[in-house]
Amino acid sequence: MKNAHVLIADDEPSNLELLRELFNLHGARVTQASDGETALRLARELKPDLILLDVVMPGMDGYEVCRRLKSAEETRRLPVVMVTGLGALDDKIKGLDAGADDFLSKPVNAAELLTRSRSLLRVKDLNDELEGAYHRLAEIASYTNGLLSRFDPYNFDAGASLHELMEFLLGPGETSRARPERVLLLSGTDNGSWNGLLYYLDDNKVTFRNLAANVTQAEIEPLFMGHNLVAWNRGEDFGPAPESGIWQRLGEPPPQRNLVAFRSTQVGVVALDFRKRVGPYDAQVLSALVATIHFFLKTISSQVQEVERAFLYTIGALARAAEYHDEDTGDHIMRVNLYAEELARALGCEENFVRVLGYSAQMHDVGKLHVHPDILRKPGRLNAEEWEEVKKHTIYGLHILGDDPRLAMAREVAISHHERWDGSGYPHGLAGEDIPLSGRLVMMADIYDALRSRRPYKPPFDHDTAFKIISKGDDYLKPEYFDPKVLEAFCDIHRRIEMIFESDQ
Ligand SMILES: [Fe+2]
Ligand SMILES: [Fe+2]
Repeated sequence: MKNAHVLIADDEPSNLELLRELFNLHGARVTQASDGETALRLARELKPDLILLDVVMPGMDGYEVCRRLKSAEETRRLPVVMVTGLGALDDKIKGLDAGADDFLSKPVNAAELLTRSRSLLRVKDLNDELEGAYHRLAEIASYTNGLLSRFDPYNFDAGASLHELMEFLLGPGETSRARPERVLLLSGTDNGSWNGLLYYLDDNKVTFRNLAANVTQAEIEPLFMGHNLVAWNRGEDFGPAPESGIWQRLGEPPPQRNLVAFRSTQVGVVALDFRKRVGPYDAQVLSALVATIHFFLKTISSQVQEVERAFLYTIGALARAAEYHDEDTGDHIMRVNLYAEELARALGCEENFVRVLGYSAQMHDVGKLHVHPDILRKPGRLNAEEWEEVKKHTIYGLHILGDDPRLAMAREVAISHHERWDGSGYPHGLAGEDIPLSGRLVMMADIYDALRSRRPYKPPFDHDTAFKIISKGDDYLKPEYFDPKVLEAFCDIHRRIEMIFESDQ
């Protein structure tokens, strides 16, 4: 009965007063209404925990008020007690018809009224909890759906996801009573101790501060009271408060009202001071949320990232192997990756295209693995036959790269990075947009780097010379070889391209 809010509607002031005193005496808060319309309005506005309705009132009678309350979605769960005339069976049938939850006969017996009220309030409590649970579940479902739809294993940001989780846990929302005031996040370290972050709302924004590191297992143990899942309410549940030296150590007050805690081997989450009684359900919610994050973080994301690292390492090794017999080019292939990325970005290409090009560009000369080293290392000019063989590295590249979809762009680059916009390139003499964009970009990147590097037949040029040759042409190179848009992008960002080359020297 304590803290319950009771709405009493009666047109007889002395009755109202009597009932108000009775409820007040037992700690309930009372709102009064002296006619049906007012009762209906107050019930809709205030959503009391219990409604006492006199049957006979001027204007709208108790039955009508009850019928309207019970037929509206937002008020139909509020328990209604009809106060009827003594033993009037008709009245009770009409009341049942209107959806009343219980009946009392006038004159009201105080003990009976209190007993029935208590039992209705208990039911209401359970209903509220169930409804809160339903809403919270719906919120969790939409939260995890959001997480899933935005999940990108290549760029999974653990910190941001954690922050989002905390926003979900702490942030204001429909079920604000089901939210804690503070959340202590504990993460296990390799030496068996724990690090702590405390999350809380500051001016409606989720904020956190780093707590003392290296919390021992013994210090956090009391928080969990020997379990993995705990829900505790002050002064209510069995067992003493989960007092722990940790609060003093962290400079944080201990829980004022309640605590919900969940832990696994590597993660502990302690939610403090919900604005309601907590139960096992709240602990389950917490564990489900943490499990979700853990799943993304540890399982999928780290596995995908591991495979990705292995993949990138492998193709990098392949590219370096192909370069082995080539001219002394240093980190040519890595620089070509970077130039191509920058050029693609300057052209406004999608970030995913930029990322894939960033590792595919280095494969441009992988076909040289099939060209005889004697030809590749020949110091003087190549004869016609040798030159034809070198040109085939584009086609050999296709064979080496196979048909895996992850290497589709690498194949494009390998076959097309010697094609020219004006159609004078090889191996197929493609022109214009028949040449894949990846090939047009890598051709520009490859040529710039070749101009800057020492080759058996030429000295290394400085940036300004290379820039001039590319933009104005010389005896060997014509600006018409390049896609005009790629050339424009190169001219726009040539200083950044220069920086990539210089920072590698
Ligand atoms: Fe090449
Ligand atoms: Fe190259």
